[in-house]
Amino acid sequence: MRMLAFFIVASLVANAYGESYYPLITNQIHLIRPKSGSSGSPLTGLSCLSWRFGVETNNIVNWKTVPLTCEDYVGHYMLGSQYRKDSKTINKEAFFHAQSLNLSKNGKDAWVFDIDETTLSNLPYYAENGFGSVPYNATKFNAWVSTGSAPALPESLKFYGKLVNLGVKIVFITGRTEDQRDVTEANLKAVGYHTWERLVLKGSDYSGKSAVEYKSAQRKKVEEDGYRIIGNIGDQWSDLLGTNTGLRTFKLPDPMYYIG
Ligand SMILES: *[C@@H]1O[C@H](CO)[C@@H](O)[C@H](O)[C@H]1NC(C)=O
Ligand SMILES: *[C@@H]1O[C@H](CO)[C@@H](O)[C@H](O)[C@H]1NC(C)=O
Repeated sequence: MRMLAFFIVASLVANAYGESYYPLITNQIHLIRPKSGSSGSPLTGLSCLSWRFGVETNNIVNWKTVPLTCEDYVGHYMLGSQYRKDSKTINKEAFFHAQSLNLSKNGKDAWVFDIDETTLSNLPYYAENGFGSVPYNATKFNAWVSTGSAPALPESLKFYGKLVNLGVKIVFITGRTEDQRDVTEANLKAVGYHTWERLVLKGSDYSGKSAVEYKSAQRKKVEEDGYRIIGNIGDQWSDLLGTNTGLRTFKLPDPMYYIG
């Protein structure tokens, strides 16, 4: 009976919308049928996808760790091709935006980049630390940062290069602290980020302040110095919210940690 109903619905869909819509509809039905299946047992992969969606849309906030049941899911996402495809999509959109603007010739158009999980990737560290499913350990993470061996996020590096070619000035604003300046500069240069207008690290005057407060204040300074922020890209919503956010903001994926 259920199969019959399915065929009736499928053929109605085919008749109503024509042949070209038919495969799309049936694919959706096939995707849903096996996974939410007649046994009624929930699938971890599905709820972890919902969790990631909630995280990326900033509906799930202030979370401390990736749910333990989603460690595998997040690991596969980060190491597999989907993370890279998502990064590519966002960076491409950011480039289309930059390209669509009437850029000034006075060298005063700027783009704001975050660093961790935006320009540099800490995936080698997180792969050894549960992909964010274990509590953050500042000592351990800072020891990793001090090695200066974080790879570039390839899609971001490509976008960065295109911006430089367009004559856009690069401004890095990072939650990394002043004492990490030398290693951060060396790391950026080693992986291909050779030039920038400013590299802003978090000074002690901002300790205890939120990322939104700190980053907004730094962007305000950039604008006060006569720059137009044409875009702003980061993996955390706290990179993008607040004031002086620029003409457009672009959110890169990061299901491993949350910074408020
Ligand atoms: C681009 O900017 C220049 C200089 O401000 C201006 O003369 C020109 O009309 C602008 N072009 C467009 C398409 O807005
Ligand atoms: C954090 O990592 C350091 C270095 O590995 C370790 O000595 C320390 O016990 C860890 N702290 C916590 C709270 O796990």
